Amino acid sequence: MSYEINKEKEKQLFFHNYARLPLAVTYGEGSWLYCADGSRYLDMISGIGVNALGYGDKRIINAIAEQAQKVIHASNLFLLEPQFKLAERLLDISGLSKVFFANSGTEAIEAAIKLSRKWAASSGNAEKKEIVSLSNCFHGRTYGAMSLTDKPKYLEGYDPLLPGTANVSFNDIDDLEATLSDRTAAVFVEFIQGEGGIHKVSPEFIDALKTLRGKHGFLLVADEIQAGCGRTGRFFGYMHFDIEPDLVCLAKPLGGGLPLSAVIGSKKVEDVFAAGNHGTTFGGNPVACAAGLALIDALYEDNIMDKAAETGEWVGEALETLAVKHPQILEVRQYGLMIGVTVNRDASYYVQEALKRKVLVNATSGNVVRLLPPLTASREEVQQCIDCLDEIFSEEA
Ligand SMILES: Cc1ncc(COP(=O)(O)O)c(C=O)c1O
Repeated sequence: MSYEINKEKEKQLFFHNYARLPLAVTYGEGSWLYCADGSRYLDMISGIGVNALGYGDKRIINAIAEQAQKVIHASNLFLLEPQFKLAERLLDISGLSKVFFANSGTEAIEAAIKLSRKWAASSGNAEKKEIVSLSNCFHGRTYGAMSLTDKPKYLEGYDPLLPGTANVSFNDIDDLEATLSDRTAAVFVEFIQGEGGIHKVSPEFIDALKTLRGKHGFLLVADEIQAGCGRTGRFFGYMHFDIEPDLVCLAKPLGGGLPLSAVIGSKKVEDVFAAGNHGTTFGGNPVACAAGLALIDALYEDNIMDKAAETGEWVGEALETLAVKHPQILEVRQYGLMIGVTVNRDASYYVQEALKRKVLVNATSGNVVRLLPPLTASREEVQQCIDCLDEIFSEEA
C-alpha cells in the first residue's frame, strides 16, 4: 500500500513553523520536481538556493555513493580526506588561511560570531565585543545569528536576544560612522542581501566600511551563504566588490544538497581557536565534503559560473522588458542568478499564481518575488518562468 502524505497529516505531525507547499515531492531531475500525483513543477528556487547543479547531478550522486561506501561518519576526532581536499579548494579559491566546517548557515554565522569575540578579547580592549549587522539582513535562526537581524517576524517572542549587537541602516554611511567604534568586534555583511529581497551594498558604503575598518580595527565578515558558490557568476559574491573580508561564511550549495557549511578565515584570525574552543559532532561530514568537492569541480570544469552570469543577464533583460509592459513591476534586481522583482502588491499572490501554473518562485520579503534557479537552468526553462510571470501579470491587469 502506498503511503500518502498531505497537508492534513502535516498539521497532525509537525510544529507549524513552515508554510509548506501542498506538493508531495517524489523526485527531482535537472530544474524539475516531480510529485506523487504525476505532476511536475519547474523549480526556480532550487531548494532555497541549495541545488546549484539542479536535481540528480550524477557527479554529486557518484561522489556521495563512493564516499558512503568508505565512511559515512567518523567525527572530528579523526583526519578525513574529503575535509582536507575541500578545505584546500576553498582556501585556494578565497586566498584565505583557515577553514572550520559546520552543518548549516546559521552554525557558520554562530561560529563567526564566537570567533570574532574571541579574536577581539585578545585586543587589550575589554569593551571590544560588539557585533554589528545591517538592517534588512538575514543571517540565520540560532540565538546569535537571529540577534543580528532587525526584522520583527524573526524576533517576536524570543527575548532576550544576544547582548552586544547593533544594527546599521542598509547603505547608510552616516549611521555606519555613528555606530562603529573601537568597541566593534565585527561587522557582518551580506554583500547581496538574499532573504531581504536581493539588495546590493553600495560601493560608497563599502569604501566607508574599509576606511572605518582601518580606524577601528574590527573584522569584516562576509555572509556568502546565499550568494556564494557561484550564484552571482563568481564563486563568492564579494568578488564583485573591491573588498577583502576577514571571515567568509558559506553554506547552502556547499554540500551538494547535504548539510554542510564553512567559515573561512584570514591570517589575522588563524590562531584564535585552540583545541576545545569550538566544535560540532557532524560538521565537515566526509560524505557532504565529497559532494561539495564534486560540486566545485563541476562549477569550474563546466564553466557553470560564467554560464550562470550569462543566463542571469539574459533573464534580467527579459524581466526589464516585462517591466515596460506591466506596471505592476516596480523594479528588477539581478546579480547572476540571484534575482528579485519588486511588485506593487504582496508578492505571495504571484507565488500562488505561478504555483497554479506549475512554476515555483518564492517571496520572503513583502513585495519582492525572488528567483534562485539552478545555475544549470537552460534558457528555455527560465523563459518558461518568464512566460508564466508574463501571463500572470497580463491576466491581472
Ligand atoms: C544569507 C544567509 N545567511 C544565513 C542563512 C541561514 O542558513 P541556514 O538556513 O542554513 O541556517 C541563510 C538562509 O537562508 C541566508 O540566506
